[in-house]
Amino acid sequence: MSLSGKSVIVTGSAHGIGRAYAERLAADGANVALLDIDGPRNREVAAGIVERGGSAIAIETDMRQYAQVEAAAAQAASAFGGLTGLINNCGMLNVVPVSRVTLEHITDEEWDEAFRVNTKSAWYGAKAVLPYLKANGGGSIVNIASSTILIGPATRGHYIASKSALIGLTRVMAREWGDHWIRVNAVCPGSILSEEDPDEAALAMRNRPVSLRMLKRVELPGDMVGTIAFLQSDDSAFMTGQVLLVDGGQSFVGV
Ligand SMILES: NC(=O)c1ccc[n+]([C@@H]2O[C@H](COP(=O)([O-])OP(=O)(O)OC[C@H]3O[C@@H](n4cnc5c(N)ncnc54)[C@H](O)[C@@H]3O)[C@@H](O)[C@H]2O)c1
Repeated sequence: MSLSGKSVIVTGSAHGIGRAYAERLAADGANVALLDIDGPRNREVAAGIVERGGSAIAIETDMRQYAQVEAAAAQAASAFGGLTGLINNCGMLNVVPVSRVTLEHITDEEWDEAFRVNTKSAWYGAKAVLPYLKANGGGSIVNIASSTILIGPATRGHYIASKSALIGLTRVMAREWGDHWIRVNAVCPGSILSEEDPDEAALAMRNRPVSLRMLKRVELPGDMVGTIAFLQSDDSAFMTGQVLLVDGGQSFVGV
C-alpha cells in the first residue's frame, strides 16, 4: 500500500506497538513524526527508520502537556510541509505500567493518570493536528482503544474505562470534522505480546486468550500494522466514525 505523500504523527512510538506503526507507515512511504516521552529510545527508532531509507523525525513529547503537543505538531508540519494523519497510540500499559488490580484497589491518582495518558492525550493530539488537516483539505485520525472495552475483564477498570471513552470521542470527532473531510476511526487491538523482554508471566498472560480466538495464536504488533496503514491510505477514504477490532476474532463489536 503506498503512503507516499502522507505525513503522519504516531504517538507512543518509542516502544511496542507504536514503534511497529511508525516503522510500517514509513516503509510504505509516509513521512512519520514520532512523538514519545522516552526521548532517547524514540530517537533510536527514528534513526533506524532513516537508516532503512525512510523519512522520520523524533520529537520528545509528553502527550499530557498540551503546549508540548501543539509545538510537536507545528514542528512535524513544518518538517514535512503539512500533515495528513495522526495515530493516537500512546498509553499507560507496559512502559508506563498499569496496575492490574480490581476496582476497589485503584488509587485516585492512577485513575486520573489513566485518563490523562490514554484519553486526554488523544484529544490533545487531535486538537493539535486539526489546523494542519483542515489546511490539507482532510486527513485521517486513528484512536487506539482496546478489545478489553468489549470483554470487560476483571482488573484495570480505570484503563478499560479510559479506552472506552475513546469510542465516544472518536464518534464526536468524526461528526464534528467530517465537513473538513477529516476521517476519525478507532481501532481495538486484542491482547498483544508487545513487551520487549517478556518474562514468563507476560508470556502466560499473552497466551491466555489464544484458545478464545477464532485465529488461535498469540497476537503480535505486526498483526496491527496493515489496518493502520489502510486507515492512513486513500483506500479507506469513505470510512469514518468506525470501530475496528483486530483481535483474531475474540470479540464482536455492538450489542
Ligand atoms: N499490548 C496490548 O495488548 C494492547 C491491547 C490493546 C490496546 N493496546 C494499546 O495500544 C497502545 C500501545 O500499546 P503497547 O503495548 O505498545 O504499550 P507500551 O506501554 O509498550 O508503549 C506505550 C508507549 O507510549 C509511550 N508513552 C507513555 N506515556 C506517554 C506520554 N505521556 N507521552 C508520550 N508518550 C507516552 C511510552 O513511552 C511507550 O513508548 C496503548 O495505547 C495500549 O493501551 C495495547
